[in-house]
Amino acid sequence: MKINGKDYRCLWFEDDAIKFIDQRKLPYRFEVFTAKTVDDCVFAIKEMVVRGAPAIGAAAVYGMVLGVNDVEETMWKLRGTRPTAYDLFYAIDYMVDKINSGEDPLESAHKYVEDLVQRCRRIGENGSRLIKEGMRILTHCNAGALATVDYGTALSVFRVAHEQGKKFFVYVDETRPRCQGFLTSWELYHEGIPHTVIVDNAAGFFMKNKEVDMVVTGADRITRSGDFANKIGTYEKAVLAKENDIPFYVAAPVSTFDNNIYSGDEIEIEERERTELAVFNGKTIMPSWMKVRNPAFDVTPARYVTGYITEKGVIKKKIE
Ligand code: MRU
Repeated sequence: MKINGKDYRCLWFEDDAIKFIDQRKLPYRFEVFTAKTVDDCVFAIKEMVVRGAPAIGAAAVYGMVLGVNDVEETMWKLRGTRPTAYDLFYAIDYMVDKINSGEDPLESAHKYVEDLVQRCRRIGENGSRLIKEGMRILTHCNAGALATVDYGTALSVFRVAHEQGKKFFVYVDETRPRCQGFLTSWELYHEGIPHTVIVDNAAGFFMKNKEVDMVVTGADRITRSGDFANKIGTYEKAVLAKENDIPFYVAAPVSTFDNNIYSGDEIEIEERERTELAVFNGKTIMPSWMKVRNPAFDVTPARYVTGYITEKGVIKKKIE
């Protein structure tokens, strides 16, 4: 991604450490977080210095490099960070396999990340065909370069369509509680893609008023049946899209497809801490007696999905 004319990835390996654009600080400040140890990497994933399923996977491959002297312990530490994004487990399995076969850990990790970047680029190329001149598209959360190392999944579709000179407009759900929509807006702003941020509850308003022609989101885990987990609030957007006859697409690389499970009911949903709701941008906005529940993801049944945009093409029917 280009930020003020300079090329960036959301993470990279340099001087025996993982460097992350610190996503906790965006869009207000651009800061780089350095992870020198496995525990630093674990912290970065848990605390969402880095986030988004494919980027979490990329962080984990470099985390395995940092902890190569104790593969078993490193693997379990990384597996315990976030339960829902399948890419994390896919990436760790990839590294354990490479290390056990005697391949160079750092080279294998670089290869994983380069391959992921190319896959995301192809997702954009395949998905951009769906974007017609003048379309208004809704997206939820951040499925951009920040979530995938580079290009993005949903945002790769927008980036490539924009490169091709297509004119379209993006509605960006704010995505409470952590406001990943701000990250999406930050990426689109630097890309020069016209968009506006809306509160999560406004999506139905715009859909019903015929101001949304298509929805494109990313995914954290897609099962064999096509049910998928994504950021909390995705399910209701998909139901609203169906009610309003709006096509709903899910963009994801193969590393997000979990072939071990069939139904979305089998996906473990992460519940995160109270402070994500109670504190906003450093300021406490809830009295201490107020109790909250904070599921980070929900599951959308396959029947709400028009198609899956992957690096291999657009799959328009049930995926099994
Ligand atoms: O909790 P997050 O920010 O890691 O959740 C990310 C999402 O739900 C994204 O929409 C999804 O990972 C797709 S990222 C290409």
